[in-house]
Amino acid sequence: MEMRPATHEEFDDFDRAVLAAFHREVTEEDRRAFRRTDEPERSLAWFDDGRIVAGTSVYTRHVTVPGAIVPCAAVTAVGVMPTHRRRGLLTALMRRQLENIRTAGEPVAALWASEGAIYGRFGYGIAARNASLTARRPVARLAAPPSVADPQRAGPAADHVEHMRAVYERVRGERPGMLDRPGAWWEARLHDPESERKGAQPLQALVVADGYALYAVRPDRDEDGPAGEVKIRELVAATPAARALLWDFLLDQDLTRKVTWSLAAADEPLWLMLTDPDAVRLVLQGSLWVRLVDVPAALRARGYAADPDVVLDVSDAFCPWNAGRYRLAGGACEPTDAEPGLALDASALGAAYLGGTLLTELAAAGRVTELRPGALARASAAFRADVVPWCPEIF
Ligand SMILES: CC(C)(COP(=O)(O)OP(=O)(O)OC[C@H]1O[C@@H](n2cnc3c(N)ncnc32)[C@H](O)[C@@H]1OP(=O)(O)O)[C@@H](O)C(=O)NCCC(=O)NCCS
Repeated sequence: MEMRPATHEEFDDFDRAVLAAFHREVTEEDRRAFRRTDEPERSLAWFDDGRIVAGTSVYTRHVTVPGAIVPCAAVTAVGVMPTHRRRGLLTALMRRQLENIRTAGEPVAALWASEGAIYGRFGYGIAARNASLTARRPVARLAAPPSVADPQRAGPAADHVEHMRAVYERVRGERPGMLDRPGAWWEARLHDPESERKGAQPLQALVVADGYALYAVRPDRDEDGPAGEVKIRELVAATPAARALLWDFLLDQDLTRKVTWSLAAADEPLWLMLTDPDAVRLVLQGSLWVRLVDVPAALRARGYAADPDVVLDVSDAFCPWNAGRYRLAGGACEPTDAEPGLALDASALGAAYLGGTLLTELAAAGRVTELRPGALARASAAFRADVVPWCPEIF
């Protein structure tokens, strides 16, 4: 068995192996879409007798963190074929990948997990949650519907890319967890193969001056009459007025009975905008996992609500170069011999990094230990972000 990057020419086989792990086949349409954003030189694959049986890759992106935007290795395409699972192939891929990311100089890695039990052991922690949202029509109505007839335009998603890009860029810098979308990433975000529509219309863009929504209506009918569903892929509003206009439109589509969005922000305020807040249900789920690949560089890169002034005792069995004590104070993060105020492992630190998972919550869960009175409250308040982290896309 050999582990190495898959070449450009080998990438069809790479996709086939990774999708086989998900019990799926690659379609021609998928293949074309993947090629726009693939970075074969950042992939890693296991070859068994010349055939790819496991793989993972990285997208070179940036993620917003409190007070900054940092280079981020967006880990993707993790799969081990059913014939080769549970013999350590993933563990070896993860180890080599993190070494490579460190060499590339990216201080953090991030990913979406198919199952929550996989990545904690590799030092990733849940740094963001999303809300799966369901609004019931016709009960879900805005308490203050927009009065101005600000034009709402709706049409094929591809016709509105420049507008959406501009709105997204306005919002991205303020929201931890959002990633940049360089190159073909907007095209990738609009990927809409018929095979995945499940009966819905092609992807639509709804556009207002300071916002947009990507959505599709799936018509349906049952014994009670029209039962369509408005499925939101992404809704981004730079102002409350834009948010009201978007929701006003989406909640008022004829022949529909509900509006759903599986990747809403955990603090999506729709329920506070309705005459009946109970008309919307929000279910919180873990979303973005973050791993600090270079602990001091990552901790220096982000901003803090106040000076944490703390010595952290970090354990990191999987990336031993990170283990040790660091004084985090005054914008610096340096190795130290001083007595620590908090002890935690890499996965807890990754969870706290975007400022959404609090150090106090992690301590209550037994995952952070306070060694000096006052250190926990001070560090937790400093790490906390003003804006709840949100990653609106699965990559
Ligand atoms: C998840 C997956 C990549 C694991 O690969 P693998 O090569 O079998 O993993 P390893 O053999 O290196 O396992 C390392 C450890 O993680 C555990 N583990 C791996 N996958 C796990 C899972 N899905 N749930 C719980 N534990 C898991 C193993 O039991 C093992 O534990 P141990 O060290 O205590 O024995 C593989 O099962 C797979 O491809 N699954 C389907 C696709 C998928 O979910 N990919 C992840 C996308 S985010």
